[in-house]
Amino acid sequence: VVELVAASDDEINQAAEMIRSGGIVAFPTETVYGLGANAFDANAVARIFEVKERPLFDPLIVHLADASQVDQVAYIGLDNPLVNRLVEHFWPGPLTLVLPKHPDIPSIVTSGLDTIAVRVPGHNVAQNFLRAAGVPVAAPSANSFGSLSPTRAQHVKDDLDELVDLIVDGGPTTWGLESTIVAVHEDQLQVLRLGAVTVEALEEVARQSVQIAGMNAGDKITTPGQLPRHYSPRTPIHMINRGESLELLPLDKCCYLAFNAPPVNETVTVEVLSPTADLREAASRLFDVLHRIDASGAEMIVAEWMPERGLGRSINDRLRRASATRS
Ligand code: TXA
Ligand code: MG
Repeated sequence: VVELVAASDDEINQAAEMIRSGGIVAFPTETVYGLGANAFDANAVARIFEVKERPLFDPLIVHLADASQVDQVAYIGLDNPLVNRLVEHFWPGPLTLVLPKHPDIPSIVTSGLDTIAVRVPGHNVAQNFLRAAGVPVAAPSANSFGSLSPTRAQHVKDDLDELVDLIVDGGPTTWGLESTIVAVHEDQLQVLRLGAVTVEALEEVARQSVQIAGMNAGDKITTPGQLPRHYSPRTPIHMINRGESLELLPLDKCCYLAFNAPPVNETVTVEVLSPTADLREAASRLFDVLHRIDASGAEMIVAEWMPERGLGRSINDRLRRASATRS
């Protein structure tokens, strides 16, 4: 049984040492917990895929302590003014850039792609850990493949426990939603996964409108985060619009997931994501609440669509995938 260790300097150094000696370590970031290995160590990276039961065609994000390390893993093209502006504005933070890959990175990290996903997390513990490790750390979210992302150390422990070498406990994550993934094609941006950085914020910094991949029928799946069914709780989810009739639903066995207020005149267990209608609060609580409903024994989740703007779009993206029928 793996211990949850508080993120003291000693524990962070121990975790960093574990990475350098080929181990795999769960660590907090500002988005969700990651499960990390030395990105240059193909064997350690292979263990991540094994432990998560993650298909080898699903590439990992490489995490850096700061932007100056990026040329160890990618050709950043700092001569590209767009990349420059994004890095300046969003790093450290929840934006992942897909860039041309450096040949020294083993191909297992990128599933054989000639691009690599990179980010600099904006989280103290993550940064201290990455700095102490001294190597780029390849890390997917620290959950088994397709299931709910972990926003607390306890979620990692419940899911992966003795399969990992160490879990660094940095408390609940602040954003609670994964990073936004963006591919840069010369002077154009394409969002591969909606996430903690809103499309609106990206467009403002990029000074252009951005394209969102997978939003058109027939679009090729370019990132497995776009798989129709992903980020799923065990409990089935039924999506509704606020105010829609609940008449045919078995409400005594349901948990109702509301944006800012319980449904009126209905007797049902309710989880409200943000009583003040703050999308950021709703995003940060989403996975945590879904974990809790899973543990509660509810047989169905009836969830409202969030407002389709800002982080509401990213939350709706996760709810859409979480509620997609099992095939
Ligand atoms: O917030 C986050 O991004 C968290 C924390 C731990 O950093 N990580 C995370 O990783 O969500 P993961 O593995 O659960 O999702 C990473 C996504 C996958 O859908 C993967 O397909 C995509 O990133 N990805 C990685 N490399 C890529 C590449 N070269 N091209 C396109 N997509 C890529
Ligand atoms: Mg994931």
